[in-house]
Amino acid sequence: MSKDTLSVTDNSTGKTTEFPILRPVHGNPTVDISSLPKDLDYFTFDPGFVSTASCKSDITYIDGGKGVLLYRGYPIDQLAEKSSYLEVAYLLMNGELPTKAEFEDFDAEIKSMSMINESLKSFFNGFYHDAHPMAMMTGVVASLSAFYHEALDMHDDEHRRLSAHRMIAKIPTIAAACYKHSIGQPIVYPRNDLSYCENFLNMMFSVPAEEYVIDPVAVKALELLFILHADHEQNASTSTVRLTGSTGANPFACVAAGNAALWGPAHGGANEAVLIMLDEIGSVENIPKFIAKAKDKNDPFKLMGFGHRVYRNFDPRAKIIREMCHEVLSNLGEENPLFELALKLEQVALEDAYFVERKLYPNVDFYSGLIYKALGIPEGMFTAMFSLARTSGWVAHWLEMMEDPSLKIGRPRQLYMGAAMRDYVPEAER
Ligand code: SDX
Repeated sequence: MSKDTLSVTDNSTGKTTEFPILRPVHGNPTVDISSLPKDLDYFTFDPGFVSTASCKSDITYIDGGKGVLLYRGYPIDQLAEKSSYLEVAYLLMNGELPTKAEFEDFDAEIKSMSMINESLKSFFNGFYHDAHPMAMMTGVVASLSAFYHEALDMHDDEHRRLSAHRMIAKIPTIAAACYKHSIGQPIVYPRNDLSYCENFLNMMFSVPAEEYVIDPVAVKALELLFILHADHEQNASTSTVRLTGSTGANPFACVAAGNAALWGPAHGGANEAVLIMLDEIGSVENIPKFIAKAKDKNDPFKLMGFGHRVYRNFDPRAKIIREMCHEVLSNLGEENPLFELALKLEQVALEDAYFVERKLYPNVDFYSGLIYKALGIPEGMFTAMFSLARTSGWVAHWLEMMEDPSLKIGRPRQLYMGAAMRDYVPEAER
């Protein structure tokens, strides 16, 4: 009996089978059960994939117990302090930090792709002004494949690289266009003399009537927020991108599918839901009432921005964003009662046995919206900001999956609990 196998005995037949144990670089040893149906004629049952590894990946590692997040082995706090979002996007896709020359080439290519086809701009006019930005982004991103027929062979390395770069280059232009449409202002073209985050701020807030001065505090805050949101291993939206890509769908359709998954309030939609919740709580006096609601099993209310499938400790991103909140809000001279309320809510929750027992801590979404709001970005755009940043992680996982020679179409099984086989009943006998 090898030490690197797990023995499983079927007590109904007495048959024992050994399954290989896979040893990762970091993280839990993992049992390879792919031969289970053939060896023992069984499936496994794991709703929500709580204990199921869907793939092998080299990109990101999370230690939920220690609150550690690594992008290609580099700790998130070091990247947040020393890197830029575009450099992190390069790292996620290529596995190594770029040399100066490599980054300059990458930056130049991204800039050369940042415009969207003029006829794509008319798509926005098809939306009513109060369309949710995520509805617009999902629709417009999915339609991108209609403009690049010449590079959609998913088995062609160059086509895949080109599509990945096009996605990263155009997503800020699309996100800003969603915002401009919602406020009735003209869509602003990208500018190649600006950095990725400077360009996004200019497309969001400049108007033809006057010069827009880009605030370096806002640029630094965006670089940090985008780095922190860039990737997070096999979360719901990234798993959606992978499942969609496993069918051979084009990367624009895959990213649109990920965008749709991220929109949910249990996932990336939480940053918008946190601000709505803080507005609803209103004052420190109301905190106990909402903490009680969050603990009440008969009340569907959850403390938005709290809890995580993987982190059983502080989300390292939440700690970094909380510290940045102080800097951004004081730099912008913003009195921010919502930030004070959030700090108090965090303190009360983390002293409450319900949250402590369940290891529920603030996650990345708890503070991020406060900074977006301080930068003048409306709540409806918060999830679009998350989607913009996560696009580099989505395309990195899509590239990794498409380059895997063992790629198979994703097709989970089920535990069928429906009606047993039966014959059709004529209407007269029903
Ligand atoms: C993101 O996966 C990722 O990596 C995602 C993400 C990324 O970068 O891609 O990190 C981004 O999505 C962050 C999460 C944002 N969502 C929210 O803030 C919404 C509020 N959080 C919850 O919906 C919840 O915590 C989840 C969805 C985040 C995690 O849910 P799980 O892992 O399925 O946990 P669970 O529901 O099984 O909770 C365990 C217990 C339950 O109570 P009991 O049945 O054991 O009594 O904790 C309770 C839950 O009811 N619980 C909460 C709670 N979160 C969990 N109770 C009140 N408030 C909460 N927020």
